[in-house]
Amino acid sequence: MDRPTQPDAGALTQLASAARECTACELYKDATQTVFGEGAPDARLVLVGEQPGDAEDVQGRPFVGPAGGVLDRALTAAGIDRETVYVTNAVKHFRFVQRGKRRIHAKPGREHIEACHPWLAKELAQVRPEIVVALGATAVQALLGSKYRVMRDRGALIPFGDLDALITIHPSAVLRMPPEDRDKGFGGLVADLTIAAQAIGS
Ligand code: URA
Repeated sequence: MDRPTQPDAGALTQLASAARECTACELYKDATQTVFGEGAPDARLVLVGEQPGDAEDVQGRPFVGPAGGVLDRALTAAGIDRETVYVTNAVKHFRFVQRGKRRIHAKPGREHIEACHPWLAKELAQVRPEIVVALGATAVQALLGSKYRVMRDRGALIPFGDLDALITIHPSAVLRMPPEDRDKGFGGLVADLTIAAQAIGS
């Protein structure tokens, strides 16, 4: 990985521009646009989700839809200011199946995760965080490979090159829980994020 000595906002902007032209897998054909990561170029914490959802695809920004609402509330509860972190996804284009007028989320395949991995690696190399948080199974697979499991390995700092990784659930998992389980699910997400917050002393 290229390792700049200083975080470089210009380099991230250039990466985002280059990613707009990405045709490394077929997902660019149906998606509205590439949704690149965004946030503080010198963030100590990088959060990695799965892929943009419908709202993100339209707005061109990560985690601005319903899952983003859960993530924002969880970050606040964990004492993390979203302005200070960098938020991105394992896959930068929305994968969906069209059902009438609705676009239904479809999980990205291994080929999409692999095709997109160079962008994620370059974002991490530029931002150089202390901790990268994998939000859900796709981010775990993209960052750490297939030997880790979300529910088994969540909430602990895992050595990851010269930084640490921390696994937690995807915010949309909270939304999919039965209403009676949501508070507990949300509390677990906050508890995991708090471990990351404490590790960077925020
Ligand atoms: N889900 C994700 O994984 N990422 C987003 O940006 C939005 C929803």
